[in-house]
Amino acid sequence: MATRTFKLLHVVGTRPNFMKVAPIMAAARCWNEAPAPERAVSGVAFRQVLVHTGQHYDQTMSEVFFDELGLPQPDHYLGVGSGSHAEQTARVMLAIEPTLVAEAPDLLLVVGDVNSTLAAALVAHKLGIAIAHVEAGLRSQDRGMPEETNRLLTDQLSDMLFTTCRDADKNLLREGIPSRRIHFVGNPMIDSLEAHRSKIDASTIVMELGLIPGGYAVITLHRPSNVDEPEGLRRLARTLRRLADRIPLVFPLHARTRARLAEFGLIEGLERETSLRLIEPLGYLDFVALMQDARLVLTDSGGIQEETTVLGVPCLTLRHNTERPVTISDGTNRLVDPDDSAAIQGAVATVLSTPSTREQHRPEGWDGRASERIVVDIARWLADDCAESLGDKSMQEV
Ligand code: UD1
Repeated sequence: MATRTFKLLHVVGTRPNFMKVAPIMAAARCWNEAPAPERAVSGVAFRQVLVHTGQHYDQTMSEVFFDELGLPQPDHYLGVGSGSHAEQTARVMLAIEPTLVAEAPDLLLVVGDVNSTLAAALVAHKLGIAIAHVEAGLRSQDRGMPEETNRLLTDQLSDMLFTTCRDADKNLLREGIPSRRIHFVGNPMIDSLEAHRSKIDASTIVMELGLIPGGYAVITLHRPSNVDEPEGLRRLARTLRRLADRIPLVFPLHARTRARLAEFGLIEGLERETSLRLIEPLGYLDFVALMQDARLVLTDSGGIQEETTVLGVPCLTLRHNTERPVTISDGTNRLVDPDDSAAIQGAVATVLSTPSTREQHRPEGWDGRASERIVVDIARWLADDCAESLGDKSMQEV
């Protein structure tokens, strides 16, 4: 049987995209390298194109991840940079349109919920390019969150929706997405974690920071709802200073958070705390290693809720909601009101008074093989789609 090569075009833009796209690109490369009879769908091969929108552009927020995760250098770099939501989304749309027209991929792959995700999907849809959305169906039910808008709209535009948990399937069905478009595959972010376990274990970051394994907490904060408003951020900074009396804290600062702390005059107060370390954002391997040896993690990130679950490290999510409830029902995560200092301190005290079990949790499909399943489903879908259009053509010819 003749082999047909399909072009997949992947879009990345921000830090949390890289660890989801890397294993999918690697799985598609493996597919090509496997002897044809061993492929789950015969007659299909892939050519891959990578587009980086440049939503994140610093060495610490972007470049380091390419080196560590084995992502190829992007074929196209759009350099859109920062701006308001409208500016950023519009700039990605304008810059990606000629790229999509020139590349004419058989399938656009977008991941997650950032502005680059929605912008790329919107342009592709209007050009009649099929779209696959990885990490579809997650819902916080909080329409005030910019990412929730991006999730809802991207899912409506997508032809293949890859989900990481069963509750995402239910959300999509409730929103009228036909079940044939929904593919439960598990979590590709965990594929990256599993693929890099030995390098994570070899990291010396905990020692370099002078920390005792199991004797410190990691903090990450960057959500606009937590860091953009002076009073809220001041309250959180005060809470962190109190927590630092109980356990040493390490706080890798996201660009947005560093800028806001400086703007609101809060950096110096935090820097004065001897057991609170403000550090630059870390690379992937060092950051996962830092979480792995932490007594607990306090965060408002999405992905970190998932990684701590698999690492078996208690996670306190400083938000009113989560789009990842499986990390609470089947994992180590707990929501804590970010505005309630006493609640945060109480939750930390509870973790510290509970013996650490390090019991790792594995929600269904978080087994390190989600990307392989994604690639098989894509191959099948493209082969069927191709057969269907050939069928249409032969009907016309008849
Ligand atoms: C974005 C995503 C969010 C994701 C987060 C991960 C959207 C709506 N939000 O939020 O879902 O969890 O990335 O990091 O897409 N900046 C730099 N250097 C960089 C990147 C950003 O200095 O490399 C600065 C920008 O100037 C901007 C701020 O950081 O002021 C925020 O960046 P932006 O991409 O707008 O949003 P994030 O808060 O990072």
